[in-house]
Amino acid sequence: MAGSEQVQLQRVLHMNSGEGETSYAKNSTMQKVIASYTKSIRKDLARDYYRDHLSDKMVIADLGCSTGPNAILMASDAIQSIISVCSDLGHPPPEFQVFLNDLPLNDFNSIFRSLGDYNYLSQGGDTEGQLCLIFGAPGSFYGRLFPSGSLNYVVSSTSLHWLSEMPEVLQEGSVVNKGRICLSKTSNPSVFDAYKNQFQAGFSLFLKCRGVEMMKGGIMVLTFMARRGSDPSTEEDSYAWELLAVALMDLVSVGLIEEQKVDFFNVPFYAPSMDEVEQEIINEGSFAIKNIELFEASYNALLADQYFEEEKQEEITQNTSNGIQFSHLKARHYAELTARSNWVVLESMIRNHFGGEIMEELFKRYCDLLEEYYCSRGIVLELIPNIIVAVERK
Ligand SMILES: C[S@@+](CC[C@H](N)C(=O)[O-])C[C@H]1O[C@@H](n2cnc3c(N)ncnc32)[C@H](O)[C@@H]1O
Repeated sequence: MAGSEQVQLQRVLHMNSGEGETSYAKNSTMQKVIASYTKSIRKDLARDYYRDHLSDKMVIADLGCSTGPNAILMASDAIQSIISVCSDLGHPPPEFQVFLNDLPLNDFNSIFRSLGDYNYLSQGGDTEGQLCLIFGAPGSFYGRLFPSGSLNYVVSSTSLHWLSEMPEVLQEGSVVNKGRICLSKTSNPSVFDAYKNQFQAGFSLFLKCRGVEMMKGGIMVLTFMARRGSDPSTEEDSYAWELLAVALMDLVSVGLIEEQKVDFFNVPFYAPSMDEVEQEIINEGSFAIKNIELFEASYNALLADQYFEEEKQEEITQNTSNGIQFSHLKARHYAELTARSNWVVLESMIRNHFGGEIMEELFKRYCDLLEEYYCSRGIVLELIPNIIVAVERK
């Protein structure tokens, strides 16, 4: 996306709608696994906030909720934790107001359709004594979404690695990142600076807006994909983007898309280091950091039992160069998972830029390349680094 073809991200970016095979709802297990790593921290913080404030009303917002089972998960965890502390304290539960935010093209209809089965009522009413009103809040979290001083508890999971917009230098039609579609280990240093500056500007704006919208003492818990260290160009952080660029160039070689189109396609994704996040929070100044840590979510949790059964029957080879036990079946399985997860997240952008006809072929090639990559190294890169940061409104 660049130059005259630059379309406002807000009007392009959305996870795949509905409940079909390539929907986000059916392919968000990776994000669910990440949420499971942060569950106890999120629940403890909601409980502690409530115990310290005993408010009559708890206003909760999930920013970048998407669709599918995860859309209500963050709010639900906080509500359950608060109800449980109320029961311990013998205190009546507060009224809950939940705002589910995402970009306007998000499939909000699916969320509200599925809430019919949800234990906490969505349309007002009384369940187990507490009222829980759930609202959609479409719009970009890089701008104002809520009234001043209105939010007690804010959560955002696996969303803030999406930039507010493409860095300017990549918008202008100059081919500064030729052969790549995101920050890669072979990208020019100016591309790294552009991505980093865009992240800093967007994250700072995000903090400023939430600083206005949250009450003093309010808690915000953010989780997003991260880099392990300060080096922006390690292979483990960029191989998935590089291989998708190779798959796109394969489609150029068979005449399915034009090379120039690939030159102008860049993905607005940036995984910051922990230092970059911490520094931005300190610089912006609205929040005090309560806790910040890097954790590695394991892909293993995503593998179906059936896979483990099959793996037992496969001869596991000992990789001679690195001594790691390696299974081809596992490589194929991880390749499929990675390709499918990226498909449901990137389809809206790829369709917008190249047209939808290439999806099947592109992701088939991508999957093969991922498998080849894992096999050639005799290792599967199965840990996904993420940051969790919890802050309190000063
Ligand atoms: C990978 S999904 C995560 C969804 C959900 N939180 C989960 O854990 O499964 C990222 C979501 O962030 C949303 N998003 C990206 N940029 C956004 C923005 N500027 N404002 C609001 N939502 C945004 C995307 O549309 C997408 O639904």
